[in-house]
Amino acid sequence: MRNILVTGGLGFIGSNFIRYLLHESGYRGCLINVDFITYAGNPDNLADIEKEFKDRYRFIRCDICDRERMSKIFDEMAIDGICHFAAESHVDRSLVRPDAFIQTNIVGTFTLLELARKFRGRVELFHHVSTDEVYGSLGREGFFTEETPYRPNSPYSASKASSDHLVRAYHMSYGLPVTISNCSNNYGPYQFPEKLIPLVILNALEGKPIPVYGDGRNVRDWLYVGDHCSAIWAIMNKGRRGETYNVGGNNEMENIQVVGLICDILDEYCGMIDGGPRRRLITYVKDRPGHDRRYAIDGSKLMRELGWAPHESFATGIRKTVRWYLDNRKWVDRLISGEYKAWIKENYGTNRS
Ligand code: NAD
Ligand code: TYD
Repeated sequence: MRNILVTGGLGFIGSNFIRYLLHESGYRGCLINVDFITYAGNPDNLADIEKEFKDRYRFIRCDICDRERMSKIFDEMAIDGICHFAAESHVDRSLVRPDAFIQTNIVGTFTLLELARKFRGRVELFHHVSTDEVYGSLGREGFFTEETPYRPNSPYSASKASSDHLVRAYHMSYGLPVTISNCSNNYGPYQFPEKLIPLVILNALEGKPIPVYGDGRNVRDWLYVGDHCSAIWAIMNKGRRGETYNVGGNNEMENIQVVGLICDILDEYCGMIDGGPRRRLITYVKDRPGHDRRYAIDGSKLMRELGWAPHESFATGIRKTVRWYLDNRKWVDRLISGEYKAWIKENYGTNRS
């Protein structure tokens, strides 16, 4: 693949993936990042990459649902590989305003599949990035495998499930070379602070209440974003076409454990706050409707077939992550103050929120 289209590359995982591809993977081709810059897209995430890789990295602002413009991009950029991240990604938002989830996650994926079909003589791979949330919720026992039936519980996970089915169907119906990855909760640098881990870090830093939904005992299997990026690249290169691979971090934790640990790390790095430990900030709030109790991934297929395993334990990954938010105050400040949005407005007109 010489010209890979990365959709949603200004978001959390997409920007880490572009960074990984250009700095660490040994990939020598070009990357075309198409992102609509919604509230979750942040040009600051790749400002250095834009300067450093002028010849091999190109950013284009476009809605993936805009078939005409996307068709021109496929044509003019000679796209021969696709890694599709662009999505509305936050469960809480999907509960309040599901429309954008249906549009971007389902219609957007469909639009890209149609274009991959149109240019299928050239397109070598369509990789679709998805979530373990499509499988629904687990009880105390068991793990999600690639054979687990889909039972999505939120508008977000239902829209991702729908897009997964479309990708698979385009392989079965049209022979499109596809791979799908379903991963667990990611954490790491550049994550927008609406998701649990960056939200807790920033609230705990500022001495604000830390909202924990319900009894705080819901379980997530945390995957360091760098590990996720290497898994996607392994699947793109060596994964069997038409197959799904689950990606997990082997790091099951209750939310309350995660929150407590972050408080302790910040106490250690920054000292106490107002004379006391940050755990005092933990505030139990009303539970999320339909809140999935437990997610846990069986990642043995990926390990068996492609020899991939996560590098980072939660103990090491969370320290790196907290350190990153402390060391990148400017990124945080520009995000929180909305300064980056003013820049987007100046350069691109209004951004969609
Ligand atoms: P994110 O919300 O941080 O970023 C999404 C990006 O997509 C943003 O840059 C946004 O501007 C862009 N985008 C949104 N709508 C668009 C549109 N119509 N056209 C073009 N660009 C658009 O999301 P993320 O956390 O980086 O997640 C990336 C992918 O990984 C998503 O598909 C998500 O479902 C999946 N995923 C995420 C997690 C996680 O823990 N974050 C876990 C499993 C799977
Ligand atoms: P989140 O980061 O939103 O990811 P997802 O819903 O996709 O798993 O939430 C992770 C877990 O943390 C989930 O069980 C909900 C919980 N949570 C809180 O307790 N408080 C919060 O403020 C947020 C955002 C999430």
